[in-house]
Amino acid sequence: MDASRELHRLVSGYQVTQAVHVAATLGLSDVLAEGPKTMTELAEATGTDSQSLTRLMRALIALGLYAGDDGKYTNTEVGDALRSDAPHPIAGWVRFIGQGSHWAAYTGLADSIRTGETAFPTVHGEPVWEYRAKHPSERKLFDGAMTSMSGMLTDAVVDAYDFSRYNTVVDVGGGRGRLLSGILERYPAVTGILFDQPDVVAGVEGFQVVGGSFFESVPSGDALVLKSVIHDWADAESIEILRVCRRALPADGRVLLVEQLLDRSPDPVRTALSDLNMLVMTGGRERTVDEYRALLAAADLELTGTVPTASPAFVIEATPRHQA
Ligand SMILES: C[S@@+](CC[C@H](N)C(=O)[O-])C[C@H]1O[C@@H](n2cnc3c(N)ncnc32)[C@H](O)[C@@H]1O
Repeated sequence: MDASRELHRLVSGYQVTQAVHVAATLGLSDVLAEGPKTMTELAEATGTDSQSLTRLMRALIALGLYAGDDGKYTNTEVGDALRSDAPHPIAGWVRFIGQGSHWAAYTGLADSIRTGETAFPTVHGEPVWEYRAKHPSERKLFDGAMTSMSGMLTDAVVDAYDFSRYNTVVDVGGGRGRLLSGILERYPAVTGILFDQPDVVAGVEGFQVVGGSFFESVPSGDALVLKSVIHDWADAESIEILRVCRRALPADGRVLLVEQLLDRSPDPVRTALSDLNMLVMTGGRERTVDEYRALLAAADLELTGTVPTASPAFVIEATPRHQA
């Protein structure tokens, strides 16, 4: 391998992110799903400048998203995955990660490495959750991104973990309820409750919805699922959240964390980059099994097992300690 070339490829990642982000924002794959399009048709459908779009398409063809034969553009398999009707839609995530506040937060990474501080508040003046509460359009983009990512993971989680043993599953910090919908679809006898911040769950239908803060209280249920929640928080806050969950749990209940594991990841690059993302965005972190065991123990919970799924996420199961 030519090491310099490899480095050049790696540091071009920022351009790749933006090029794919713009493709998702313009909905290029959805337009091309209607059939092959000339540049004039594509520019008209997306309201763009045809010369600039030609240059973007050149890059996206080189990157493998689209093909351009006989003056007509089409989706490749990768381009098809960016369609809004893809089996596991990822476009919501792509639209989110390339947008202003997320993108700008990464300019603070070097400072984070020097100081240990989270980049987002340094760059934007306030923590990410407060910022999003004040910027509803970005909040919506983030919720769409999480729904997009959860959609990809949901099948893997419900295939790997048997929820039929539970009466009531509470999805704590469940966003717009993508995982909960998947659980209830697969296990129709289960009752589901979605819990998240009031503005996030407003208008969600299909199950009982409760708005609130998981630092105060969460609804009771024999399974409390927290997917991609604990990794958002530093240890002290994580323990607070888990203590609140512990209080809402019956003696035979379970806390189920759905998270990546640093020491067992089937995709170490993805997990390490997710950990950096937590450093930049939220102040949280990815953790090892032992680190989760210690967090749970501090909240009077005992880690009883980790179930791999056909995705980078594991289901980490815990029960109340001192169980009768
Ligand atoms: C990374 S997202 C995960 C969403 C969902 N579990 C998923 O995987 O798609 C973290 C969630 O925690 C929620 N959250 C943040 N602070 C919260 C709080 N104090 N109380 C309840 N939910 C909160 C956010 O609104 C967001 O939906």
